[in-house]
Amino acid sequence: MVSDTTGNDTTAGGGPRPGGGGTLAGRTVSRIGYGAMQLERLHGDRKAAVALLRRAVQVGVDHVDTAQFYGNGFVNGLIRDALRPEDDVLVVSKVGADPDSDGPLPLRLAQRPEELRASVEDNLRSLGVERIGVVNLRRADSGPGMRAEGDQMVDLDDQLATMTALREEGKIGAIGLSSVTLEGLRRALPAGIVCVQNAYSLVTRDDEDLLRLCVTEGIAWVPFFPLGGAFPGVPKVTDEPAVVAAAGTLGLTPSQIGLAWLLQHAPNVLLIPGTANREHLTANVAAGSVTLDAPTLAALDEVRSASTDVSLG
Ligand SMILES: NC(=O)c1ccc[n+]([C@@H]2O[C@H](COP(=O)([O-])OP(=O)(O)OC[C@H]3O[C@@H](n4cnc5c(N)ncnc54)[C@H](OP(=O)(O)O)[C@@H]3O)[C@@H](O)[C@H]2O)c1
Repeated sequence: MVSDTTGNDTTAGGGPRPGGGGTLAGRTVSRIGYGAMQLERLHGDRKAAVALLRRAVQVGVDHVDTAQFYGNGFVNGLIRDALRPEDDVLVVSKVGADPDSDGPLPLRLAQRPEELRASVEDNLRSLGVERIGVVNLRRADSGPGMRAEGDQMVDLDDQLATMTALREEGKIGAIGLSSVTLEGLRRALPAGIVCVQNAYSLVTRDDEDLLRLCVTEGIAWVPFFPLGGAFPGVPKVTDEPAVVAAAGTLGLTPSQIGLAWLLQHAPNVLLIPGTANREHLTANVAAGSVTLDAPTLAALDEVRSASTDVSLG
């Protein structure tokens, strides 16, 4: 059971937790967190990006997802400048890909054990910390985007050996997995996995079996693209007629319906919706207060799932 039963229902700042509390890496975090990838788009307005992160903390977010390859260190630098120790924010990064400013996507796979280690060091430097709370090993086994070829096809056990060594050295606090298969997660369980980050939303539910294994194992489920992401070709929650209908009936936005559905779908769900827009941040945090009634949930549960196995390039 991952939902919080400790009574730790306020953030370090003393405010209520949007969506209530959940557990990640042995601590309580607000179930509505923040995915920082969209901040790349604010490259030209650093001040606005830092202000958005500060705003997230003020409204109760204490779980922020990032990567070195978000703007080639730009986003990590924003986090370093915006967040203070007293905010007590759990920063989660990922390894398995490196920045690639000349590629069709701004990243390329970097799956080899020595690349994982180098990427953790890059993250430590750009975040300005001695330890990263959680690091997700970003595989390329499922979901949208890249597939490994040649020397990038690395055995999971070899990667986990490096990740556990980094944890023993204190450079990372805990290990998560991303874009992983059910079989991969099963193999990795002995390493002690605290979260899984796969593409998943109300309209893309390929990984229901994985989610259920995470519930059983007390592992947080932190879906990426919870709204369908910003890339064309990935199904958007806000385009789904049943979502738009529920939003109209309840006086909410389609995005809020999509996020509220995820929170109610399983107790171990923690959200990291991405936005570069202050009003959207406010709306996403407010989704944590929405309780969908049984008929609405039943109608949303009926939505047919599409696949996320699409190219992003
Ligand atoms: N593990 C991985 O491989 C992986 C891959 C991708 C992403 N991630 C992480 O997951 C996080 C979430 O994914 P994501 O940001 O790609 O996709 P997302 O959260 O599904 O959607 C982001 C898109 O939705 C828009 N949006 C957000 N809130 C909205 C609202 N209230 N109303 C209307 N539009 C809204 C954003 O535009 P605006 O900016 O205009 O609001 C943006 O276009 C990322 O930020 C990143 O931290 C991880």
